[in-house]
Amino acid sequence: MAVLTSNIDTGSETFRRNAEDFESRRDAVERARQAAVAGGGDRAHRKHAERGKLTARQRISRLLDPGTAFLEIGQLAAHDVYDQPVPSAALVTGIGVVAGRLVTVFANDATVKGGTYFPLGVRKHLRAQEIARENGLPCVYLVDSGGVYLPLQEDLFPGEHHLGRIFRNIAEMSGAGIPQIAAVMGSCTAGGAYIPTMCDEAVIVRGTGTVFLGGPQLVKAATGEVVDAETLGGADLHTRVSGVADHFAEDDEHALDLVREIVSRHPAPPVTEPPVPPQEPLYDPAELPGIVSAGLREHIPAREILARLLDASEFSEYRARYGTTIVCGTGRIGGFPVGVVINDGILFPDSSLKAANFVELCVQRDIPLLFLHNINGFMVGSQYEAEGIAKHGAKLVNAVSTARVAKFSIVIGGSYGAGNFAMCGRSMGPRLMAMWPSGSSTVVGAEQTATVMALIRKDQLAKQGRTLTAEEEQAIRQPIVEAYEKQSQPAYFGARLWVDAVIDPVETRDWMTLSLAMAAGSPKQETRFGVFRM
Ligand code: COA
Repeated sequence: MAVLTSNIDTGSETFRRNAEDFESRRDAVERARQAAVAGGGDRAHRKHAERGKLTARQRISRLLDPGTAFLEIGQLAAHDVYDQPVPSAALVTGIGVVAGRLVTVFANDATVKGGTYFPLGVRKHLRAQEIARENGLPCVYLVDSGGVYLPLQEDLFPGEHHLGRIFRNIAEMSGAGIPQIAAVMGSCTAGGAYIPTMCDEAVIVRGTGTVFLGGPQLVKAATGEVVDAETLGGADLHTRVSGVADHFAEDDEHALDLVREIVSRHPAPPVTEPPVPPQEPLYDPAELPGIVSAGLREHIPAREILARLLDASEFSEYRARYGTTIVCGTGRIGGFPVGVVINDGILFPDSSLKAANFVELCVQRDIPLLFLHNINGFMVGSQYEAEGIAKHGAKLVNAVSTARVAKFSIVIGGSYGAGNFAMCGRSMGPRLMAMWPSGSSTVVGAEQTATVMALIRKDQLAKQGRTLTAEEEQAIRQPIVEAYEKQSQPAYFGARLWVDAVIDPVETRDWMTLSLAMAAGSPKQETRFGVFRM
């Protein structure tokens, strides 16, 4: 493999300007992250602690093997979405190591609105289950939830991808031999009661864990019976009388020990080790913020990025002299082989064909793919339409859609329009998708959209014999530009689960190493490409 070299001048004005711009974007993400990990307010935390309960994040850190990483999914979910703060959508999810095995963890945060499910909480739960299913990861549910957030029921109950899908997923994954384990560490009411009862094995904590279809208030209203929560659905009842749960835990710590023990009994393979020892890149990933450009129209040198992400900065480039606006090739991250596709300009017919061909090769050789987006889209204009840019782009979208090797996607710069699809955007089903704070994505750029909308209006007015004044044009452009800029931001993407995580460039190697380990241990799938339009 060739060793990449770097020509970046870290003392240059451009480097300084890029790093400075990146810093302000990182600050915006950091503010959202801090709000997310803070959970509910002080009062809710006090009440939670007085009940002898650990917080959702404490539970997860005590569940995982000491010193191992936690790849959090949807940390920024619901940030600034509802008319009240709902940090992390009242649910902490992610991938971590328990008893030497990779598992997916789901922990309700009862300090946020009683751990209830908001629409984005349901979406987040379903997304984490999708990741678990695709990668064959056991699921551990640490349940502490008031069930549906009742005022928003219409957005999370009746539909196909709403609450009930959580239970169907549990049943289907259990059927597929993917362990489903629950620990009831708080309230588990109504629909929520189906999480532990549908799981293969369930633990329940004395004094705090309850499972019932209707709580004491509802029972009183419905039948007149007066009963306290512990008698109605506590740990003693469910492990001694009803059989709704299997294991009695004295407290949270004990419940987490029992869960670890259940996971360790499962014959799932241990976390896959890399085939060769990991090596650090020759160039420091901390330099990446100075390389990703401040202006979205400026070029980001693809090989400079790779020199700071790949093991030993080694890269075996595919067709380096052909279709040069996209760079494809193989390298390693954390000792795992990976096929990389990274933009180095606009997509032309030749670059599209080259990338489609490279995806095919990775499928043939069973190499996972990493797409690094910095793409304004496909080239437009009569020459390129005549050359069939549409059908060449379609070939790449076809290959990316149907390739059944693990695909990972990171938006490092712009990601616009069909370029987003070709680079394995969210709709193409990457195993995991992330965005750097420097990322930005909308269907078309803000300025271009504003221009298109102003032109449409001009044409309409021209038919009436009128012209658009400068003020009228500005009144059309400004709200569009403002809305697009807001919607293109990483925190906005993270809040709506359009990406699984917003990660820092320096975290990217660790994030990818765990992702590649997960992919290496996951069930193999057969690829059947669609018909390529030649
Ligand atoms: N829908 C909407 N809001 C809910 C809710 C629900 N299902 N469950 C709780 N909340 C809200 C409360 O109104 C409260 O809001 P506030 O902080 O603005 O006052 C917050 O969540 C915390 O609830 P609270 O009852 O004060 O906390 P708690 O820790 O003492 O009890 C529960 C938590 C979940 C045990 C309790 O609220 C409860 O039993 N909720 C109803 C559960 C239910 O019947 N769900 C059926 C839906 S499927």
